[in-house]
Amino acid sequence: MASAQGRAKRLGAWLTHPAAKPVLFALALLPFAWLVYGAVANKLGANPAEYLIRSTGDWTLRFLCITLAVTPLRVITATPALARMRRMLGLFVYFYVVLHLLCYSWFDMGLDFEDIAKDIAKRPFILVGFSAFVLLTPMAATSFNRAIRALGAQRWQLLHRLIYLIAGLGILHFFWMRAGKNNFGEVAVYAAIIAAFLGWRLFKYVARKQAARHASGRPQSPARG
Ligand code: HEM
Repeated sequence: MASAQGRAKRLGAWLTHPAAKPVLFALALLPFAWLVYGAVANKLGANPAEYLIRSTGDWTLRFLCITLAVTPLRVITATPALARMRRMLGLFVYFYVVLHLLCYSWFDMGLDFEDIAKDIAKRPFILVGFSAFVLLTPMAATSFNRAIRALGAQRWQLLHRLIYLIAGLGILHFFWMRAGKNNFGEVAVYAAIIAAFLGWRLFKYVARKQAARHASGRPQSPARG
């Protein structure tokens, strides 16, 4: 018990260190650096365009899972300092989805915007991915302190709950893409991770509601005097 507390304390101290954010930023850029290096050094296999589209899709989903993990980890390990990293991780979801969209628009569609619009309307799995991107945009745009103040905490929180819908759309997009190949192993792993985080949130929500109901139903102590 004491060692768990000690570990949480050490993690908290590390996360509040001035170097923590720059280190995390550099780590989150590593997949991008690897893709740039791979493209320049011609190390992306026989079909580099497909490799780039798929890798950026994978990293979008991975950062989505990492971002969703922050709150459960913060609560379970009693490490409030983890919250400092959530905004940056969320913005990396947006960074990788923009790269994913750019790779698709450029390598698959030759930056022909009329063709892109037609393809989005024609292929359901692209439409689902695009919807997730559209929903992520207001979240990324309102992740700054001034936007939080302008929206008000409650509206901001409501908007940012969209993350679960976005994660669901991301999984559906991935599932649909793999459906043609009957290859669902990886999709199932990501779906299970996201379902576990959502389940944890729902459990906490129900527990909070029940605690509030019990507190309000408790008999009042007799008035003094
Ligand atoms: C939150 C949003 C999104 C997520 C999480 C996501 C995730 C993914 C994932 C995991 C893959 C499969 C990678 C693999 O096979 O290893 C993928 C593939 C793909 N995605 Fe997305 N994506 C998103 C948005 C989009 C958008 C906005 C577009 C384009 C408008 C798009 C177009 C594609 C295409 C064309 C493929 C490759 C299909 C193929 O190679 O057959 N995605 N995406």
